[in-house]
Amino acid sequence: MKPGRLITLEGGDGAGKSSQAGPIRDFLSARGIPVVITREPGGTPLAEAIRSWILDDVPESPEPLAELLLVFAARRQHWVRVIEPALDSGTWVLCDRFVDSTYAYQGAGRGLPRDQIATLENWVLGSRRPDLTFFFEAPVALAHQRAESRGHANRMEQESTAWHERVHQGYRARIEAEPERFIVVQGLGGVTRTWNELARHLERRLKEWSKAR
Ligand code: TYD
Repeated sequence: MKPGRLITLEGGDGAGKSSQAGPIRDFLSARGIPVVITREPGGTPLAEAIRSWILDDVPESPEPLAELLLVFAARRQHWVRVIEPALDSGTWVLCDRFVDSTYAYQGAGRGLPRDQIATLENWVLGSRRPDLTFFFEAPVALAHQRAESRGHANRMEQESTAWHERVHQGYRARIEAEPERFIVVQGLGGVTRTWNELARHLERRLKEWSKAR
């Protein structure tokens, strides 16, 4: 049995990534590929509860390192209970945000050291990593404004535009470090236009993978 592939969606708040998960799943399903959609922080009942500790203001906000540890506690639960079993059974996993979010938000945003995050990443994930990551590129000020206007802003969305610029730089550093894993698509040009761009890349990547295996 071939293991499934792990595909992640990343981008700043309001960059338009979440609306692409359904179309990607449908695209893969139409090619006979079993796929589950999930998200982080979250993806299991316990991890979803931890998500609200990370993102809501109540009852108390975690300080930065506590926030990082909560992110990884939720991730470990999600990894062991959902992601790894799916991949091992040949199902592909499409995850709305994953470890690059941690480098961007807790690393670049909160200012926590990258090596601290890398240590936790190795500890929690072992040697497995995403096969492919779509990064939704969008002007930070515009995306931030869009996220804030959607209603209740989470703890990250309440941060300043300058803070979100740092998060964006954190993502850029990840992309530069691993250009072969990332595919950058334009996030705010309209859902259909973004999808058309993404689908072309996905088609090409599927061909490469089918040759490689
Ligand atoms: P998001 O995925 O955009 O969900 P929604 O569409 O409900 O706003 O929000 C999740 C938030 O969690 C986002 O602000 C980024 C943050 N986050 C981290 O800070 N670190 C992480 O490791 C992850 C996965 C997310």
